[in-house]
Amino acid sequence: MANAAVSAEAKSGGISRREFLYYIWGASIALYAAQFSGLLIWFLLPRFREGEFGGKFVISVSELPPINAEPVNVPAGRFWLVNLDTRQENVLMKKAPDESDEIIGVAAIYKVCTHLGCIYTWTAANNRFECPCHGSKYRLDGRRIESPAPRSLDRFRMEFLDADRNPIPGTLSEEVGDFYAPVQVPDNAAFISVDTGDRKMGLSEDLICSFTNECP
Ligand code: FES
Repeated sequence: MANAAVSAEAKSGGISRREFLYYIWGASIALYAAQFSGLLIWFLLPRFREGEFGGKFVISVSELPPINAEPVNVPAGRFWLVNLDTRQENVLMKKAPDESDEIIGVAAIYKVCTHLGCIYTWTAANNRFECPCHGSKYRLDGRRIESPAPRSLDRFRMEFLDADRNPIPGTLSEEVGDFYAPVQVPDNAAFISVDTGDRKMGLSEDLICSFTNECP
Protein backbone atom coordinates (compact mmCIF):
# COMPACT_ATOMS: atom_id res chain seq x y z
CA MET A 1 0.00 0.00 0.00
CA ALA A 2 2.82 2.39 1.03
CA ASN A 3 4.80 1.52 -2.08
CA ALA A 4 1.75 2.24 -4.12
CA ALA A 5 1.49 5.69 -2.50
CA VAL A 6 5.20 6.51 -3.19
CA SER A 7 4.99 5.42 -6.79
CA ALA A 8 1.81 7.42 -7.20
CA GLU A 9 3.63 10.48 -5.78
CA ALA A 10 6.58 9.94 -8.11
CA LYS A 11 4.31 9.56 -11.05
CA SER A 12 2.50 12.76 -10.20
CA GLY A 13 5.84 14.68 -10.07
CA GLY A 14 5.54 15.57 -6.31
CA ILE A 15 8.26 15.12 -3.65
CA SER A 16 8.36 12.61 -0.87
CA ARG A 17 8.35 13.56 2.79
CA ARG A 18 11.98 12.54 3.06
CA GLU A 19 13.00 14.74 0.12
CA PHE A 20 11.07 17.63 1.63
CA LEU A 21 13.00 17.29 4.91
CA TYR A 22 16.28 17.19 3.01
CA TYR A 23 15.41 20.46 1.28
CA ILE A 24 14.49 22.11 4.57
CA TRP A 25 17.73 20.92 6.15
CA GLY A 26 19.79 22.18 3.18
CA ALA A 27 18.08 25.55 3.23
CA SER A 28 18.74 25.90 6.97
CA ILE A 29 22.45 25.16 6.48
CA ALA A 30 22.66 27.67 3.63
CA LEU A 31 20.94 30.34 5.74
CA TYR A 32 23.26 29.71 8.68
CA ALA A 33 26.33 29.89 6.42
CA ALA A 34 25.13 33.19 4.93
CA GLN A 35 24.56 34.67 8.37
CA PHE A 36 27.98 33.54 9.57
CA SER A 37 29.70 34.97 6.46
CA GLY A 38 27.88 38.27 6.91
CA LEU A 39 28.94 38.50 10.54
CA LEU A 40 32.54 37.68 9.63
CA ILE A 41 32.66 40.39 6.97
CA TRP A 42 31.11 42.91 9.37
CA PHE A 43 33.69 42.00 12.02
CA LEU A 44 36.63 42.31 9.60
CA LEU A 45 35.60 45.64 8.10
CA PRO A 46 37.00 48.74 9.85
CA ARG A 47 34.37 50.19 12.19
CA PHE A 48 35.41 53.76 11.57
CA ARG A 49 36.59 55.42 8.41
CA GLU A 50 39.79 57.44 8.27
CA GLY A 51 39.13 60.96 9.50
CA GLU A 52 36.19 59.92 11.67
CA PHE A 53 36.47 59.98 15.47
CA GLY A 54 37.15 56.44 16.58
CA GLY A 55 39.30 55.86 13.49
CA LYS A 56 42.67 57.09 12.28
CA PHE A 57 43.61 60.66 11.42
CA VAL A 58 46.50 61.27 9.03
CA ILE A 59 48.03 64.72 9.33
CA SER A 60 50.97 66.29 7.54
CA VAL A 61 54.01 66.86 9.75
CA SER A 62 54.02 70.44 8.46
CA GLU A 63 50.99 70.97 10.71
CA LEU A 64 52.84 69.99 13.87
CA PRO A 65 53.46 72.82 16.31
CA PRO A 66 57.05 73.96 16.88
CA ILE A 67 58.85 72.49 19.88
CA ASN A 68 57.31 73.56 23.21
CA ALA A 69 54.90 75.88 21.40
CA GLU A 70 51.14 76.13 21.84
CA PRO A 71 49.31 72.92 20.93
CA VAL A 72 47.58 72.37 17.59
CA ASN A 73 43.86 71.70 17.84
CA VAL A 74 42.42 68.82 15.77
CA PRO A 75 38.68 69.25 16.45
CA ALA A 76 37.39 66.35 14.33
CA GLY A 77 39.74 63.96 16.11
CA ARG A 78 39.07 65.50 19.54
CA PHE A 79 42.75 65.78 20.31
CA TRP A 80 45.60 68.25 20.63
CA LEU A 81 48.98 67.68 19.03
CA VAL A 82 51.94 68.78 21.11
CA ASN A 83 55.64 68.77 20.28
CA LEU A 84 57.78 68.45 23.39
CA ASP A 85 61.46 68.75 24.25
CA THR A 86 62.48 69.46 27.83
CA ARG A 87 66.08 69.97 26.72
CA GLN A 88 64.78 73.31 25.45
CA GLU A 89 62.69 74.28 28.47
CA ASN A 90 60.50 77.36 28.30
CA VAL A 91 57.46 78.72 30.16
CA LEU A 92 55.14 76.23 28.47
CA MET A 93 57.13 73.08 29.09
CA LYS A 94 59.63 72.41 31.84
CA LYS A 95 60.38 69.33 33.88
CA ALA A 96 58.96 68.86 37.35
CA PRO A 97 61.37 67.99 40.20
CA ASP A 98 60.36 64.30 40.10
CA GLU A 99 61.13 63.94 36.37
CA SER A 100 64.68 62.81 35.68
CA ASP A 101 64.30 61.73 32.05
CA GLU A 102 63.89 64.23 29.26
CA ILE A 103 60.44 64.42 27.68
CA ILE A 104 60.93 64.49 23.92
CA GLY A 105 58.58 63.94 21.01
CA VAL A 106 55.05 64.39 19.73
CA ALA A 107 51.91 63.31 21.57
CA ALA A 108 48.20 63.32 20.70
CA ILE A 109 46.21 64.38 23.79
CA TYR A 110 42.50 63.63 24.20
CA LYS A 111 40.43 66.77 24.65
CA VAL A 112 38.27 65.53 27.50
CA CYS A 113 39.07 66.45 31.11
CA THR A 114 39.84 63.42 33.25
CA HIS A 115 37.73 64.73 36.12
CA LEU A 116 34.12 64.66 34.92
CA GLY A 117 34.51 64.85 31.18
CA CYS A 118 34.27 68.55 30.35
CA ILE A 119 36.06 69.92 27.31
CA TYR A 120 39.05 71.88 28.56
CA THR A 121 40.89 74.46 26.47
CA TRP A 122 44.36 75.82 25.99
CA THR A 123 44.62 79.07 27.93
CA ALA A 124 47.36 81.05 26.23
CA ALA A 125 47.45 83.72 28.91
CA ASN A 126 48.48 81.12 31.51
CA ASN A 127 50.48 78.79 29.22
CA ARG A 128 48.51 75.68 30.16
CA PHE A 129 45.34 73.70 29.58
CA GLU A 130 42.49 74.75 31.88
CA CYS A 131 39.14 73.15 32.49
CA PRO A 132 36.24 75.60 32.87
CA CYS A 133 34.10 73.21 34.92
CA HIS A 134 36.00 72.69 38.18
CA GLY A 135 39.38 74.27 37.56
CA SER A 136 41.75 71.40 36.75
CA LYS A 137 44.96 72.58 35.11
CA TYR A 138 47.38 70.64 32.93
CA ARG A 139 50.87 71.25 31.56
CA LEU A 140 51.49 71.29 27.79
CA ASP A 141 52.14 67.52 27.78
CA GLY A 142 48.92 66.87 29.72
CA ARG A 143 50.41 66.30 33.18
CA ARG A 144 48.23 67.57 36.02
CA ILE A 145 49.20 70.90 37.55
CA GLU A 146 46.13 71.28 39.76
CA SER A 147 43.27 68.94 40.66
CA PRO A 148 40.43 67.87 41.02
CA ALA A 149 41.43 65.84 37.95
CA PRO A 150 42.35 62.36 39.20
CA ARG A 151 44.98 61.79 36.53
CA SER A 152 46.84 63.45 33.70
CA LEU A 153 45.24 63.79 30.27
CA ASP A 154 44.77 60.66 28.16
CA ARG A 155 46.72 60.07 24.95
CA PHE A 156 46.05 58.34 21.65
CA ARG A 157 48.42 55.95 19.98
CA MET A 158 50.24 57.41 17.00
CA GLU A 159 53.01 56.69 14.54
CA PHE A 160 54.85 58.46 11.76
CA LEU A 161 54.42 57.69 8.07
CA ASP A 162 56.77 58.29 5.15
CA ALA A 163 55.87 60.17 1.96
CA ASP A 164 54.11 57.07 0.60
CA ARG A 165 52.12 56.83 3.81
CA ASN A 166 53.90 53.69 4.91
CA PRO A 167 54.50 53.35 8.67
CA ILE A 168 58.05 54.19 9.68
CA PRO A 169 59.40 51.32 11.80
CA GLY A 170 60.04 52.14 15.43
CA THR A 171 57.69 55.13 15.58
CA LEU A 172 54.60 53.49 17.02
CA SER A 173 53.77 54.98 20.45
CA GLU A 174 55.66 53.13 23.13
CA GLU A 175 53.85 52.06 26.28
CA VAL A 176 55.66 53.27 29.37
CA GLY A 177 53.95 52.49 32.65
CA ASP A 178 50.77 51.64 30.69
CA PHE A 179 50.80 55.10 29.12
CA TYR A 180 51.79 56.30 25.66
CA ALA A 181 55.14 58.09 25.63
CA PRO A 182 55.76 60.92 23.13
CA VAL A 183 57.25 59.79 19.81
CA GLN A 184 60.34 61.49 18.40
CA VAL A 185 60.01 62.80 14.85
CA PRO A 186 62.14 60.74 12.42
CA ASP A 187 63.98 62.46 9.57
CA ASN A 188 61.85 60.85 6.85
CA ALA A 189 58.50 61.63 8.47
CA ALA A 190 55.92 63.11 6.10
CA PHE A 191 52.71 62.34 8.00
CA ILE A 192 51.56 61.47 11.45
CA SER A 193 48.81 58.91 11.99
CA VAL A 194 46.75 59.18 15.17
CA ASP A 195 44.47 56.30 16.13
CA THR A 196 41.55 57.75 18.10
CA GLY A 197 40.29 54.23 18.70
CA ASP A 198 43.30 53.44 20.86
CA ARG A 199 43.58 55.57 24.02
CA LYS A 200 45.61 55.15 27.17
CA MET A 201 44.56 56.81 30.41
CA GLY A 202 46.92 59.41 31.88
CA LEU A 203 49.06 58.70 34.91
CA SER A 204 48.33 59.88 38.43
CA GLU A 205 51.66 61.43 39.35
CA ASP A 206 51.95 64.13 42.02
CA LEU A 207 50.36 67.44 41.16
CA ILE A 208 52.95 69.85 39.79
CA CYS A 209 51.61 72.57 42.08
CA SER A 210 52.57 70.44 45.10
CA PHE A 211 56.30 70.96 44.45
CA THR A 212 56.00 74.67 45.09
CA ASN A 213 53.20 74.52 47.68
CA GLU A 214 50.96 76.47 45.35
CA CYS A 215 48.04 74.07 45.20
CA PRO A 216 44.72 75.77 45.96
FE1 FES B 1 37.30 69.30 34.34
FE2 FES B 1 35.89 68.86 36.52
S1 FES B 1 35.45 68.25 34.53
S2 FES B 1 37.76 69.90 36.33
